[in-house]
Amino acid sequence: MTTPPFDTPAEPPDIWYRILSHSVAAPSPLNTQPWSVLIRGPQSLDLFLDTNRFIPRIDPTLRQAIISSGAFIENLDIAAREAGYRAEISLFPSGLPGGSLHPDHPVARIELSCDETLVPDPLFPFLTARYTNRRIYTAQEILAETFSALACSFDQQFTSFGFSAEPPFRKELAGYLREATEIELSDPDRTAELLSYIRLHHKTGKGRQDGYGSGELGLSGVTGWLSRIRLRMCPAGSKTRCARALLIRLTQKQADSAAAFGWIVTKGNFRHDQVRAGRAYQRVHLTAASLGLSLHSMTPILELYPGMEEPGQKFRDLIGIPDTHTVQMLFRLGYSVPGSPSKRRPVEDLLQAPREFNKGSGAYPPAATS
Ligand SMILES: Cc1cc2nc3c(=O)[nH]c(=O)nc-3n(C[C@H](O)[C@H](O)[C@H](O)COP(=O)(O)O)c2cc1C
Repeated sequence: MTTPPFDTPAEPPDIWYRILSHSVAAPSPLNTQPWSVLIRGPQSLDLFLDTNRFIPRIDPTLRQAIISSGAFIENLDIAAREAGYRAEISLFPSGLPGGSLHPDHPVARIELSCDETLVPDPLFPFLTARYTNRRIYTAQEILAETFSALACSFDQQFTSFGFSAEPPFRKELAGYLREATEIELSDPDRTAELLSYIRLHHKTGKGRQDGYGSGELGLSGVTGWLSRIRLRMCPAGSKTRCARALLIRLTQKQADSAAAFGWIVTKGNFRHDQVRAGRAYQRVHLTAASLGLSLHSMTPILELYPGMEEPGQKFRDLIGIPDTHTVQMLFRLGYSVPGSPSKRRPVEDLLQAPREFNKGSGAYPPAATS
């Protein structure tokens, strides 16, 4: 159930390296970057989930990990296009998974083909410029044409985008989001899992290339310094309690400052719906970045943690989503001073060693001929 050993990492052909260095800029829950790739050939690649990077308490159904794979695929598609390649993307080529996922089965197989007629995607420059901004947002209103641009950023046939900037709506939702964070952090194991990726005592995540620190969390400057001091001064036995209180307070302030909330909905909740939602979410986020608009996902309310039934239902009623549909992503939108982008693992870290392929299958590396 683990990815193959990493002793002999494959040397990617340059084109894959270039494309993947843009793919890894995709968002993922707690910046876990739960991806691993197998380069099957100069123009063929499989994308897997990396079981070592799962967060089972926070994302017990792997819904969020799959959404992040969708965002990764979207980045890959845009970067391939920029390099002059059409990316043929087959989801779950080993067969459609049910609720459980087999980690040895790829989420997607991607085949590149050269196509000189391709038009570059205008969102390409924002692949590496986009980031989650968790700072407090200003009171600046979001114009109708900005919402239209977000709504037009992807094909809404299977996945839809909703939003509201109405003050009573924002106030009510902010209350539910605070409650959801309280529920999320009421479980000590879930809190421990969260704090293993959000390194509150450090400005930029303790030199690690995953997760993030208090700077990326939105606690920068004097506020960040003060909160780090307060956490350090917290008595040894109460550190988690202090961290929990800080995160709940911060969620309330962040939600209160939203100029609007947006969400991504799918009709089904199969794995391919979740991938599609991830791609759509990424296009909305990239479009927001291209318009100078900040975006911050706030997703605990979407999870079925014990106790979440009531705020979860109130939230669904508020946005008017029928029980047949699934809200895959929820985020606040607004304008803000720049936040801090989080780090990424280098592409080499994602590479699996090549597996054996059948002779004559056209797989990479090619079978030796005598
Ligand atoms: C499925 C999913 C759920 C997320 N949920 C949250 C969330 O609840 N709160 C939050 O602050 N960020 C959330 N994020 C944003 C990630 O933490 C962020 O993408 C990651 O730390 C990488 O940082 P970046 O977006 O700045 O590149 C979520 C992202 C994804 C893909």
